[in-house]
Amino acid sequence: MLVVLALTALASFAGAVILAWSQPLPPAAHIHLALSVGVMPLILGAMSHFVPVLTRSGAPAAGVQSIPLLALAAGTLAVFSFIAPNPAYYFAALLALAATSAFAGWIVKRGKSALGKPHPCLYWYLAAIACLMLALAVVAAMALWPEQRLALKRLHLHLNTLGFIGLTAIATLQVLLPTAVGRPDSQAATRLRQDLKWALGGTLLIAVGAAWFKPLAWLGTLLWVLPILRLGQAWLRLYRTEIRQLHGVAPVLAVALAGFFATLLFGVLHAVGVLLPIDSAHAFILAFLFPLVTGAVSQLLPVWLKPGPQTVWHGQIRQRLQWGGGIRGLMFFGGGLFLAGGWRGGMILAVVALVLFLVQLISTAKTLLNWSD
Ligand code: HEM
Ligand code: HEM
Repeated sequence: MLVVLALTALASFAGAVILAWSQPLPPAAHIHLALSVGVMPLILGAMSHFVPVLTRSGAPAAGVQSIPLLALAAGTLAVFSFIAPNPAYYFAALLALAATSAFAGWIVKRGKSALGKPHPCLYWYLAAIACLMLALAVVAAMALWPEQRLALKRLHLHLNTLGFIGLTAIATLQVLLPTAVGRPDSQAATRLRQDLKWALGGTLLIAVGAAWFKPLAWLGTLLWVLPILRLGQAWLRLYRTEIRQLHGVAPVLAVALAGFFATLLFGVLHAVGVLLPIDSAHAFILAFLFPLVTGAVSQLLPVWLKPGPQTVWHGQIRQRLQWGGGIRGLMFFGGGLFLAGGWRGGMILAVVALVLFLVQLISTAKTLLNWSD
C-alpha cells in the first residue's frame, strides 16, 4: 500500500505541475492536488510504517492501514471542490478530520503500550497530526465565521505546511539520514526531545501571527530556526563527506533541510511584502518537498517492496534510485530559489529533475519485472 501511496504522490506532483500550466484555475486546486492528494496520505502511510518501529510493536491492523486511503478520498474531494467551485470542501475537511482523529488515537495507544520508552520522534508525529487536525477544523470554522475567512485560510495553510509537513519531515530526517548513511547520530534522540517545544511553538506562533498579529510570526520564525540550525550543525559535523557527494541519498536529504531553512526565510520575506506569498508556497514545494519525498522514497521503497532483513537486492535498488541524488537535489533547490524570486522559469529545472526521477523509477520497475520472470 505504501508503494501505491508513494507513486500516487509522485503522480500528483506531476499532475499539479500540468494543471497549473494548462488550466486557469485558482491556485488552491493544484496546491491541494500536490499536498492533500499526494503528501497527506503518503505522510499518514509512512507514519503507519514508522510508529510500530518507534514503539517496538507489531504491524498496524487493516483498519489503521485504510486511514491514509480515507485521507486520499478527502483530499481528492477537496481538489474537485476547487476545480468546479462548490462547498464540498467542508465535507472533505470533516472526513479528513475523522480519519486523522482515529489515527491520532492509534498513535497514542501504541505509545502507551510501547515496550520501554517510545522514541521521541513519536511525539513529533503526534504534534504533526494535532496540527493537521487543527488545520482541518479551521476549514470547518470558515463556514461559521465567514468574515474571518482570509485569516482562517492563513491559519490553515501555515499549520499544515510548517506544522503537519514540517514537524513530520524534520523528525523523520533525523532518523532517516543516519540509517541511510549507516552511522548513528548519538545526539538525535536528545535533540528531538529538547527541540519539539521550539518547533511546535514556532509553528503555532507563525500560524496565529500570519492570521491576526504579524509580530508573533517573527518570534515563531526565531523559535523554528533553533532546531534547524542545531540539526544542520550536527549533520555537517557527522556526515559532511556523504552530503558532498553527487550521488546517494545524503545530499538530497541535506538539500531538503536547507530547503526548509530557506522556506522560513521566504516566509519572513513574504510577510514583509518583498516576495509574493504564492511564490514562496511554490518554493516550499520545490526546494523542500520534492527533495524530501524523492529522497525518502529512494531510501524506503525497497523496504516497502520487500520488508524484512536487508539484502543485496535492497542495496541494488537503492543504488539505482539514488543515482544522481545530489544533482537532483540541487536542481530542485535552484528551481525553488528562482521561483521564490518570481522567475517562473525555475519550475523547468525542478520539473526536469522530477522527470529524471520518474524515469529512474520506471527503469527500476522494469528491471524488477525482468528479475521476477
Ligand atoms: C481534505 C483536506 C483539506 C481541505 C478540505 C482543505 C481546504 C482548504 C480551503 C477551503 C482553503 C481556502 C481556499 C481559498 O479560500 O482560496 C485552503 C487553502 C489552502 N490549503 Fe487546504 N485543505 C485541505 C488540506 C490541506 C493540506 C493537507 C495542505 C498542506 C499540507 C493544505 C494547504 C493549503 C494551502 C497552502 C492553502 C492556500 C492556497 C491559496 O493560497 O490559494 N490544505 N484549503
Ligand atoms: C511553509 C512555508 C510557508 C508557506 C507555504 C506560506 C504561504 C503563505 C501564503 C500562500 C500566504 C498568503 C495567504 C493569503 O493572504 O492569501 C501567506 C501569508 C503570510 N505568511 Fe506565510 N507561508 C509560509 C511560511 C511563513 C513563515 C515562516 C512566516 C513567518 C514570518 C510567514 C508569515 C506570513 C504572514 C505574516 C502572512 C500574511 C501576509 C500579509 O499580511 O500580507 N509565512 N503565507
